[in-house]
Amino acid sequence: MKYSFSLAAFAAFVAANPTPTLDKKDGTLSVAACASAVTIAPGSNPFASRTLHANSAYASEIAAAMANVTDATIQAQGAEVAKVGTFLWIDTIARVPLVTTMMQETPCTDIVGIVIYDLPGRDCAAKASNGELKTGELAKYKSDYIDPIVTAIKAAPNVAVALIIEPDSLPNLVTNANLTTCSSSASDYQNGVAYALKNLNLPNVAMYIDAGHGGWLGWDANLQPGADMLTKVYKAAGSPKQVFGVSTNVAGWNAFSASPGEFAGASDAKYNKCQDEKRYINAISPLIKKDGMPAHAIMDTGRNAVQGLRQAWGDWCNVNGAGFGVRPTSTTGDPLFDAFVWVKPGGESDGTSDPTADRYDSFCGKPDAFSPAPQAGQWNEAYFEMLLKNAVPQFT
Ligand code: BGC
Repeated sequence: MKYSFSLAAFAAFVAANPTPTLDKKDGTLSVAACASAVTIAPGSNPFASRTLHANSAYASEIAAAMANVTDATIQAQGAEVAKVGTFLWIDTIARVPLVTTMMQETPCTDIVGIVIYDLPGRDCAAKASNGELKTGELAKYKSDYIDPIVTAIKAAPNVAVALIIEPDSLPNLVTNANLTTCSSSASDYQNGVAYALKNLNLPNVAMYIDAGHGGWLGWDANLQPGADMLTKVYKAAGSPKQVFGVSTNVAGWNAFSASPGEFAGASDAKYNKCQDEKRYINAISPLIKKDGMPAHAIMDTGRNAVQGLRQAWGDWCNVNGAGFGVRPTSTTGDPLFDAFVWVKPGGESDGTSDPTADRYDSFCGKPDAFSPAPQAGQWNEAYFEMLLKNAVPQFT
């Protein structure tokens, strides 16, 4: 189990966080939920008047880790990280009940961020995050994963929700269709994402479909096919009005704006004009919009404080030397960006560095990847402390 909800850790979190309070009588969490149903108007910025929720799952994970730390500075900084709004990944059917927990604990001031991440044949171009559902298990994805999430959100119409839909899935279909694992997953991915978009299209929900990052779909040859793939699935879902645009740099390392771009000196740089996320979104957004889909963006800045660490754009696993980036905010300086958000919970691994382990991917053994590292999603204390040390801005 990735998240342990030890009472001590949870109590420590609640003590450190003034918003939720424990109801003394039955031990349940009571928060000031909105008094009436929330409507996130299409075309509005869902983050403009709301704070990304600092969820109790990440907070208790941090609290459990800090309980083993003796350095008081790290403990104090860790407690500060626990207060930063971060998305919660629902990466297995077993974790679906956490959606209800999130709906119960999110106050009216906040918007809760949830990552939908359990497609059949997940992570088709890599091994580290291969999921529980096999290619062909689309019916199970719909009935056992998406449907109960829809039920949980429908049961709490007074809570604002931001959803990131299936990181990496559609980008993989654009650039990795040559792999059997991706070509055989293609119809499940497209039908699964369309089903999620159609059924999660609720008034209190803002959805962002994952669009990879500038070092992936930002290449000249990938921009139009990338936009085509996104809009095709959006239309297959019936153009749901609660789709606000795309997510970018999820679990990634790219800068929002960098000059010169991080790989501007590379021999193939002339083929990628999207050397940062600002340029990427400004390039792909008009192509998406032209085809009728809203194309605002949210960007993961959770681990992008330090640039120049990777040997190549595509190095995605536990990049060594990384630091926590800009805290979630709707002040982005670019009208296409609704918000900078934290999506990948810093400290959770991207994949194991053990070559003998199940789900080992060679990217996690590259020279620019931090080692040792546990399985994807598992806590890596040394990595968390490195992110703290290299954070910009620092935690005090
Ligand atoms: C893992 C998930 C995990 C998520 C957030 C992904 O790479 O596959 O299991 O929940 O990262 O850490």
